[in-house]
This record gives sequence, structure tokens and C-alpha cells, in this order.
Amino acid sequence: MPEKLIAPSILAADFGNLQRDVEMVNNSDADWFHIDVMDGHFVPNISYGMPVIEAIKKHAKKPLDVHLMIEKPERYIEEFARVGADIISVHYESTVHLHRTLCQIEDAGCKPAVVLNLTTPVSVLEDILPKCYMVLLMSINPGFGGQKFEQMTYNRIKKLRKMIDDQGLDTLIEIDGGVTNLNAKQLVDAGANVFVAGSYIFKSANQPETIKSLRTLVNS
Ligand code: DX5
Ligand code: ZN
Repeated sequence: MPEKLIAPSILAADFGNLQRDVEMVNNSDADWFHIDVMDGHFVPNISYGMPVIEAIKKHAKKPLDVHLMIEKPERYIEEFARVGADIISVHYESTVHLHRTLCQIEDAGCKPAVVLNLTTPVSVLEDILPKCYMVLLMSINPGFGGQKFEQMTYNRIKKLRKMIDDQGLDTLIEIDGGVTNLNAKQLVDAGANVFVAGSYIFKSANQPETIKSLRTLVNS
């Protein structure tokens, strides 16, 4: 099994000390920066956009995993690539021509990923899987950090893992929402590869230590 990855969610960082928090992630055992973009339409919250991502990119020494919670993301793919996205995830529910949008992400030089909301069946991805570098399964309703992990996620991971293995692919499965040391091992056992954690990391007293122990746990 390949190594499991940790992606701290910048949504939970201290924006008054953003450079400090970016350096913390740089110097930690984390693998990626997870960056949540919200437009106030697709989700009932507004976060940040291109200028903030550009500022993060200036200091980041690890890949930027950009999670777009916006309607019609195809309007902005090239812009997100320009400001430094390495992986771009679009919601299945947000774009009508998903295949075209994933091609657009590739053409912009980024790795394409698809996100599914809690109640979107994983089976909708069957035909598009070969085009996905990664599938992000939401384990909460998107829009806010600090929510409770939904137990239904385990079964969804298992179904998706089977689809990926049956097709002989190496598509990554990322989990986002309510990830902590209490559910991480079970998520690994179900078949997940990448773990986003926001409040669990940034609200902890020793953030690098929390990242380190989470990473050790998922790789044990
Ligand atoms: C929510 C975002 C998540 C969020 C996770 O819509 O997609 O990335 O930051 O935060 P926690 O880990 O606190 O649930
Ligand atoms: Zn996210």
C-alpha cells in the first residue's frame, strides 16, 4: 500500500498569522496544503480566493490541494492554476460537463480531482474514474470546518475503493471533514489514502506534534 498523506486545512488557520501557519505546515510532517474556496452559492459560506492562494503559494514548500466549493468552477480553472494550485478538486454537483472540466484542469497543468457530497452515490464516477487523479469524499456537509464526521463515510469509501481496484487504477481517495485520531485508522482500513484535517490540527496545543501523530497513525 502506498504511503498515506496528511493535508492540513488552511481554513482553520489564523489568518492574521497566515505566513506563520504556512511555515508551521512547511516544517511539519504534513504532505499537502488543503485550501478551501467557497463562493456563498454552492455552499452557504464565503472563504477566500486567488489573492490569498497566491500569498500562500509564495511561502508554501508543499503542493497546494485546492478544493473548489463554487458553482461552475470551469469559469476559474486557469486562474487557480496561475496562482499556484497543484491539485484542483471540483464538485460533481457543481459542473454540468465534468469531463470537460477535468480536461481543462489537466490542460492548465494541474492534477484533476472530483468531490462528492455526502449523498451523491459513488457509482456516478464509474465512467470518469480513469480521468481522476483523486476522488474527495466529503464526510460532512461542505461549507464549514469543525463539524461532526458522518459515519456513512466508511461504506462510501469501501464502495469507491472496490470500483478503483476493479478498474486497476491508482486513483487516490481523500477524506474531508471531521477527521481526527479517533476515526483515521478506520478510514485507512476502509481504503482511504489522503486525510484533510482542519480544526483537529489547528486547534491543538502542539500543531506539528498533532500532524506527526496523525501521520504515524494512518501509516501504522
Ligand atoms: C469544509 C472544508 C473542509 C474543512 C474541514 O467544507 O471542505 O476542508 O476545512 O475542517 P475540519 O477538519 O475542521 O472538519
Ligand atoms: Zn475541503
